[in-house]
Amino acid sequence: MKIILIGFMGSGKTSVGKYLSGILNLEFFDMDFEIEKKESKSISNIFKGFGEDYFRKIESEMLKNLIRKEKCIISSGGGIVLNNLDILKMESNVIFLDADVNTIKLNLEKDICKRPLIKKENLNEKNIKEILSNRYQKYIDCSDYIIDVNNKSIETISREIIKNVL
Ligand code: S3P
Repeated sequence: MKIILIGFMGSGKTSVGKYLSGILNLEFFDMDFEIEKKESKSISNIFKGFGEDYFRKIESEMLKNLIRKEKCIISSGGGIVLNNLDILKMESNVIFLDADVNTIKLNLEKDICKRPLIKKENLNEKNIKEILSNRYQKYIDCSDYIIDVNNKSIETISREIIKNVL
């Protein structure tokens, strides 16, 4: 079984992915982490040094590589839906962790350092809404399951995923 988690920054993809991989005994891949390993640079430095277009290119390549695996859990980056809708639509367990602006803001406040698109100085509802509005329909369009993650623990979200997917 392969599960692909999608959703905005701060929706809990990495935490849920790690938790699920423990329960289901499946290998876990966090796309940002894999990209950092491959490029030997942080996501922030890739954006700074080479720009967003370059990042999107290697992000799409990484997805194509990881998606070949039969059994795993993949936590994607929040912008994966910008260029990869077709490939995601062909997969059967794409799960959208649907978080509202408030949840996203609270989660990002706890962990902002690796995200070049939302920094401390522009972490506000207006900015989150703006980026999210360009993506929301895309998350919906390529997902097989949508999980409302607001006010839920990682365990609850993971149990909901297992109930729906297994
Ligand atoms: C991005 C989300 C980040 C990371 C990069 C760009 C985005 O991943 O890929 O900073 O465009 O939403 P997370 O969703 O894991 O934060």
